[in-house]
Amino acid sequence: MIYTLTLNPALDRTLIVENLRFEDANRVKQELRYAGGKGIDVSRVINELGSESIALGFVGGYDGMELEGRLINEGINCDFVKIAEETRINVFIKKEKEGKRTSLHAKGPEVSPSELATLYNKIKNLKPSPSWFVMSGSLPLGLSDNIYAQFTHLMRNKGIKVFLDSDGIPFKKGIKAIPFAIKPNLFELERLSGKKLKSRKEMMTFGKKLVEKGIGFVLISAAEKGILLISKDTILKATPPKVKVKSTIGAGDASVAGFIYAYEKKMSISDCLRMAVACGTATALTPGTALCRKKDVKKIIKKCEVKELEL
Ligand SMILES: Nc1ncnc2c1ncn2[C@@H]1O[C@H](COP(=O)(O)OP(=O)(O)OP(=O)(O)O)[C@@H](O)[C@H]1O
Ligand SMILES: [Mg+2]
Repeated sequence: MIYTLTLNPALDRTLIVENLRFEDANRVKQELRYAGGKGIDVSRVINELGSESIALGFVGGYDGMELEGRLINEGINCDFVKIAEETRINVFIKKEKEGKRTSLHAKGPEVSPSELATLYNKIKNLKPSPSWFVMSGSLPLGLSDNIYAQFTHLMRNKGIKVFLDSDGIPFKKGIKAIPFAIKPNLFELERLSGKKLKSRKEMMTFGKKLVEKGIGFVLISAAEKGILLISKDTILKATPPKVKVKSTIGAGDASVAGFIYAYEKKMSISDCLRMAVACGTATALTPGTALCRKKDVKKIIKKCEVKELEL
């Protein structure tokens, strides 16, 4: 079973207004709600592709219950730990005519030590046992920035493949615990290496260093340029076809899901990479937070080019 972990999910609310003025009352014409989270997005795409996953994480209060209910309605298997404080909300305000947006991001809940212990005990004894354990996104208040490293150790020791996709210090520390696969984008990769990476060669050299430490697959994603995959055995570059982009929100998460889906189906590494790129690019075709559609993935995958590179 593929498990995804979203420690800091959010209930996104989009308020559509005609006008937005301070010192005045602004009428909301329409409100949309959506359960947001990077691990959750990985679960959504795994579902869309036709495999199964279970979404784990923390939810709290009525907003948390709503988030979970929305996922259940979408057909996502959930097994969240309930926390005392309310799940975070993001408010997006969209001016209808101009299409201009602004957003407000709440600080979110603080997770207590006992709530963390509940999650820890749950993930120690997952049934059915995990083949993959995907950890994506930022951390809520109350958790140590060492948490991804600790969870990676725990899973690795059980022989479970960890896919880590995060940023900043929690990502950097998590990588020291040697996950099976990671997918930094170019900015995340530079923050990881602590310096600007000016050429593809510099990226490959840095990726290779991570692989030498024991990470199985380093996937460096570069939006419309595709993904560079570095492993012990090979360096591959997959390039998607040019497409008409609507919104790239969640493209990275879709790529993570595509790679894992294909790996579980025992496809070759170059086909796993092709799938990762196709899922990301198919996500760019859909508006707003919508992710990829399987029919688009099937079309795009035929047009993704993979070539082998030398360092
Ligand atoms: N503008 C685009 N055109 C075509 N494909 C794209 C575009 N942006 C993203 N993709 C596809 O999605 C994949 C992942 O995108 P990207 O590198 O932007 O991930 P990311 O920065 O991690 O995104 P996320 O916001 O989901 O975290 C790319 O490798 C590519 O296949
Ligand atoms: Mg990303």
